[in-house]
Amino acid sequence: MRIGVLTGGSDCPGLNAALRAIVRKGVQEHGDTFTGFLDGWAGVLDDRTIPLDIPAVRGTLPRGGTILGSSRTDPLAGTGGAGRVKAALAAHELDALIVLGGVNTLTAAARLADEEGVPCVGVPKTIDNDIQGTDYTIGFDTAVTVATETIDRLHTTAESHKRVLVVEVMGRASGWIAVHAGLAGGANCVLIPERPFDIDRVCGYVESRFRASYAPIVVVSDSAVPAKGEVELNGLSGVGEWLGREIERRTGHEARTTVLGHIQRGGTPTPNDRWLATRFGLHAVDAVHEGDWGAMVALRGTDIVRVPLRDAVSGTRTVDAARYAENEIFFG
Ligand code: F6P
Repeated sequence: MRIGVLTGGSDCPGLNAALRAIVRKGVQEHGDTFTGFLDGWAGVLDDRTIPLDIPAVRGTLPRGGTILGSSRTDPLAGTGGAGRVKAALAAHELDALIVLGGVNTLTAAARLADEEGVPCVGVPKTIDNDIQGTDYTIGFDTAVTVATETIDRLHTTAESHKRVLVVEVMGRASGWIAVHAGLAGGANCVLIPERPFDIDRVCGYVESRFRASYAPIVVVSDSAVPAKGEVELNGLSGVGEWLGREIERRTGHEARTTVLGHIQRGGTPTPNDRWLATRFGLHAVDAVHEGDWGAMVALRGTDIVRVPLRDAVSGTRTVDAARYAENEIFFG
């Protein structure tokens, strides 16, 4: 078969591992040929491509980012987008399109498959882990690993100076990175977007931690919000810096904030992300050869299954109360 591939949305570690698996399996087992679209859906609309063969993916397993480039372009945002996607597939005589993306990129793939008959198969990737129907997405494990290592390091400097250390992690509308890294790193308070926080309570945890002769570590998701009032940025970079200032002002304890930012998305993928990305890639090729259009590969336990793309993108996978309660045991 002739297969197009694209990586869209925010990049993450593991994308190259998935591309390598797709090409290796397709070429070696089926004699497929691959066309890589550059910069996500933008490369489909503008017809910018590179040939993806075994030499092109050689040595890329441990490399972060994506050799195809990425963008947040939505092909269906303007008029005529679906026609341009179909024209690109026709121009390259492609039988299928494998789309590696987060919710937005995969939403376009779902609509193109369901409404326009475009032969798409999806692969879920995002450090946020917010895609429904899969236990984990490519990139999440690496982000949690980076955040956990950071928390480990901050414990020692917080202790030396008897300071509060606030760590802001990514995650957009879901707090998965925060709850996983917070639990693994022994955070004394974890704040997530799903649960608007009470600043007085946060300060209470800080005080009780100091009373126990330890320095507190507060982990906050980049989209967490207070239950009352607003985060007034006034030149601050985000909720993490705001929280550090507020804690210092209210408790009198010195506070510092570390904003992890794109470090969570860069660099080499963890072994778990390479494992997941490779297996997703292999199974995406199976889905293509079975003509399972509109399907997304997904992890259920340790098995790779398929779910309809339309279900996967129908909402955001968020942290529920029971999961958050596991973190709360360690607050204060
Ligand atoms: O969706 C991945 C993500 O890294 C989020 O966690 C974060 O909120 C956002 O993207 C950052 O976007 P950008 O790279 O455009 O700054």
